[in-house]
Amino acid sequence: MEQLESVRKQFLTDIESFPENPQDIEHLRSKYLGRKGLVASLFALMGKATAEERPALGKELNLLKQDLTVKFDEKENIFSTSQQSAEDDSIDLSLPGKTPRIGSIHILEQTLSEIKDIFKSIGFHVAYGPEVDDDYHNFSALNIPEHHPARDMQDTFFVDPTTVLRTHTSNVQIHLMENEDPPIRYIVPGRVYRNEAIGYKSYCLFHQVEGIYINERVSFAELKGCLEFFVKQMFGPNKKMRFRPSYFPFTEPSAEVDMWDDERQQWMEILGCGMVDPAVLENVGYDSKKWHGYAFGMGVERIAMLKYKINDIRLFYNGDTRFLEQFS
Ligand code: PHE
Repeated sequence: MEQLESVRKQFLTDIESFPENPQDIEHLRSKYLGRKGLVASLFALMGKATAEERPALGKELNLLKQDLTVKFDEKENIFSTSQQSAEDDSIDLSLPGKTPRIGSIHILEQTLSEIKDIFKSIGFHVAYGPEVDDDYHNFSALNIPEHHPARDMQDTFFVDPTTVLRTHTSNVQIHLMENEDPPIRYIVPGRVYRNEAIGYKSYCLFHQVEGIYINERVSFAELKGCLEFFVKQMFGPNKKMRFRPSYFPFTEPSAEVDMWDDERQQWMEILGCGMVDPAVLENVGYDSKKWHGYAFGMGVERIAMLKYKINDIRLFYNGDTRFLEQFS
């Protein structure tokens, strides 16, 4: 009886230190219940017991054997069920890990930084200004008189009667000149907003890069040279471009630059430019007899469209990863 109890104790400590895997359990099972196991050797001792002791001892031994069998079966069950769930499709342990999808820089942002790098290489500083601005900085100070069509509700998003979402980055020309004495040389990248018909080349918001250079002697030839340099750097030496006379209230003379759209076989306007109108210089307190300058404002989406053969401006804004991934 004592030996029986010590086997039971030993078993309890063995099974308590939970076997790690089915093989360990199998091993333990044969240690206790195998043909030459501990339980079998207890049965062998029955021969030494007296006839009176034998029935009680036999009963205890059978109980022990039963207990152990139940315990072993339980443990084995735990393994076989966890084995099953590992075989489930949803947890296929043989699959390689999933690579997290990482984002990439948006093609517009990439184009913007190319533009910035080109102008920085020829001495322009980069500045930023407000997207929500007053009527004065977006219009009046730029010599856009009160009843000019550019102020029409059709083009401008008004926040209130005297505050607008800027319709161009030219408002920052004024902020820069108000805050700094000449000479100055800046480019200003940023978002602009226009309430106009949406189509393949026009959207209600887009990006511009404004340029402004003010010094004592600045010529239209320098403006032309600067923009030609930019186009050559951006598109290579063979891209067709043209200057076309134009009109802006804040530059005189004014021009627009068109680039040849290979896809559509037609010209596409990419920027407006000109010599800063003396009235604008006077508005910011610069002496227009002494200081002269040029300014330009280019559409970033259109430049990206031409460079990367993107045929619809709306693609920049609808977040379709099939489009965006092509530029990652
Ligand atoms: N602000 C003008 C536009 O949005 C572009 C421009 C900028 C023209 C600077 C001349 C000088 O169309």
